[in-house]
Amino acid sequence: MRYVVTGAAGFIGSHLSEALLAAGHEVVGLDCFTDYYDPALKEENARGLDVQRVDLAVDALDFSGFDGVFHLAGQPGVRSFGDVFPLYLRRNVLASQRVFEAAGRDGARVVFASSSSIYGATERYPTPEDAQPQPLSPYGITKLACEHLAGAYVREFGLDCVVLRFFNAFGPRQRPDMAFTRIVFALAEGGPFELYGDGSQSRSWTYVGDIVAATIAAMEHGSGTYNVGGALEASMIESIELLERISGRTLDVRRHPAVAGDQKRTKADTTRIRGELGWEPQVTLEEGLTRQWQWASDTLTSR
Ligand SMILES: NC(=O)c1ccc[n+]([C@@H]2O[C@H](COP(=O)([O-])OP(=O)(O)OC[C@H]3O[C@@H](n4cnc5c(N)ncnc54)[C@H](O)[C@@H]3O)[C@@H](O)[C@H]2O)c1
Repeated sequence: MRYVVTGAAGFIGSHLSEALLAAGHEVVGLDCFTDYYDPALKEENARGLDVQRVDLAVDALDFSGFDGVFHLAGQPGVRSFGDVFPLYLRRNVLASQRVFEAAGRDGARVVFASSSSIYGATERYPTPEDAQPQPLSPYGITKLACEHLAGAYVREFGLDCVVLRFFNAFGPRQRPDMAFTRIVFALAEGGPFELYGDGSQSRSWTYVGDIVAATIAAMEHGSGTYNVGGALEASMIESIELLERISGRTLDVRRHPAVAGDQKRTKADTTRIRGELGWEPQVTLEEGLTRQWQWASDTLTSR
């Protein structure tokens, strides 16, 4: 198959592109290498991939001749109140609207990377896909807006689109603003780790390879909306303890108040994706964190 991967120089997009190539597909990546985090890391992620520098919010998009578009490009991170909000509007809402428009016109199927952040202050745990969305962050609100845009293009223009709500992804190349990458590098370098909130906040951590498998399965035979979340829920404190055990080191934790927009808990109900796509997360938190620790250690050694 011929696929486009938007956000191919990012954390999840680069892993997805590699997996598609390994499965024998043709992959063209699109990414504008935003400076949300060091673009040099994105250059590193994109090494060996065909990634074209395209800004989805501005540049002409042509998906004719492609079987599908994996739309992963976007502005992540829940710290989205304040002056940064226009970036979230542009890189999530506007960019996605332009992707849906072009894919509908060109007859390419889309898998869209949404987020567990759309659930926000939901009352239901584990949270199924039909729970009432109550996003807490502007980020979650822009992702929910993208889902609604996709729905409008499906209804009004016959767009063929599957929505995936990713729950916290981890593993090698995890973004540098995300907790586990900050922890493994703090452990490896001996620096401090800034913990926001009391550490009891918990997540359905999902190994990046499992996210990639779900994303490919969704393109091949999914329909509608699916949660993609790992089997194990763990709090920040539990995750820190696990990483201290894996690394054999002690983390220097500096405590700060919780960040506005941060969810207290995410827990995915994955009944739907298990039943319809036969997807099961394969990698445990301990196994995945061991790989992420190894990756951080290797990265420091090679610098
Ligand atoms: N990592 C997670 O835990 C997680 C959880 C839920 C949802 N998601 C979603 O999954 C997707 C991938 O996340 P990630 O962690 O790999 O993020 P990432 O920031 O590493 O990757 C996103 C990529 O999109 C690119 N991009 C942004 N705006 C663009 C534009 N206008 N045109 C072209 N490229 C653009 C960026 O340069 C970046 O390389 C995002 O949409 C994110 O919101 C991620």
